[in-house]
Amino acid sequence: MDGNGEKHGNAHEGGIIEVKNLTKRFGAKLVLDNISLSIEKGKTTVVIGPSGCGKTVLIKHFIVLVRPSEGRVCFEGRRVDNLGERELSKVRTHFGYLFQEGALFDSMTVAENIVFPIRQNYKVKNWDEVDDIVKAKLAMVGLDGFQNHYPARLSGGQRKRVALARAIALNPEVILYDEPTTGLDPIRADIINELILKLERELGVTTVVVTHDMKSAYKVADRIIMLHNGKIIADGDADHIRNHPHPVVQQFIDGHVGEDDLAVLRMTGSAGSAQFLPRDFEQ
Ligand SMILES: Nc1ncnc2c1ncn2[C@@H]1O[C@H](COP(=O)(O)OP(=O)(O)OP(=O)(O)O)[C@@H](O)[C@H]1O
Ligand SMILES: [Mg+2]
Repeated sequence: MDGNGEKHGNAHEGGIIEVKNLTKRFGAKLVLDNISLSIEKGKTTVVIGPSGCGKTVLIKHFIVLVRPSEGRVCFEGRRVDNLGERELSKVRTHFGYLFQEGALFDSMTVAENIVFPIRQNYKVKNWDEVDDIVKAKLAMVGLDGFQNHYPARLSGGQRKRVALARAIALNPEVILYDEPTTGLDPIRADIINELILKLERELGVTTVVVTHDMKSAYKVADRIIMLHNGKIIADGDADHIRNHPHPVVQQFIDGHVGEDDLAVLRMTGSAGSAQFLPRDFEQ
């Protein structure tokens, strides 16, 4: 079983990204526990699981922003986790990565943000061509005309879309989205979902989405994987997850607090006796 709680057939053998027996520890803390996973080309795989369970750490392994403690990561059949930074930067040009924090450069305009990964990887000779690329990428996310705006003046949803335009600047084969809808109202969250589907459809990219947002997960996923205690405890399509017998899966998708968490809350005293400390009011 490769250490995973479950395996969903063998349809994912030979995927564009292969993770084999991946274990990750930070000091004594075990975050990923012997995970094996194959990401199918051209499909959308969604990773769900409670906060702190290792979702971001898992997808950072795909582009080797984090290196395994044990195990390996392959991209298009080639082992990548042991490559040096120079080789890795070439591998990373095949990926678009939408960071959890958005991470636009506030001192740069929208256009400059999108040009940034192009300049990092290529010597730009023809700036007219770059303007056209920026225009096309912004049009793709519905923001053509925002080239000269600064990120600080945009809404959260617009910033995510600019970050997405930047993520697709180098025509990636894989797009990794880390919590793309977090912090957005339901309408703006749904715009992001539609964009994820559109990019998959129009660019034929392989998509990996990390999310807590089950509405988003059900809408975009071909396959949903749930992480818990360092392992994959559920793996399948939306119906498979909806009907999953594991109580932890059901609690997560219903948004219910588990008995273990309730026990911790009960142990930490009654709300009436909680005291405010001066530091609660400091800026
Ligand atoms: N660079 C690091 N050094 C030490 N510990 C880390 C590092 N990165 C992540 N961790 C730890 O690994 C665990 C998993 O973190 P990760 O960010 O992957 O969680 P997550 O599932 O993405 O959570 P969230 O839903 O809140 O984003 C956490 O306990 C975190 O503190
Ligand atoms: Mg995370």
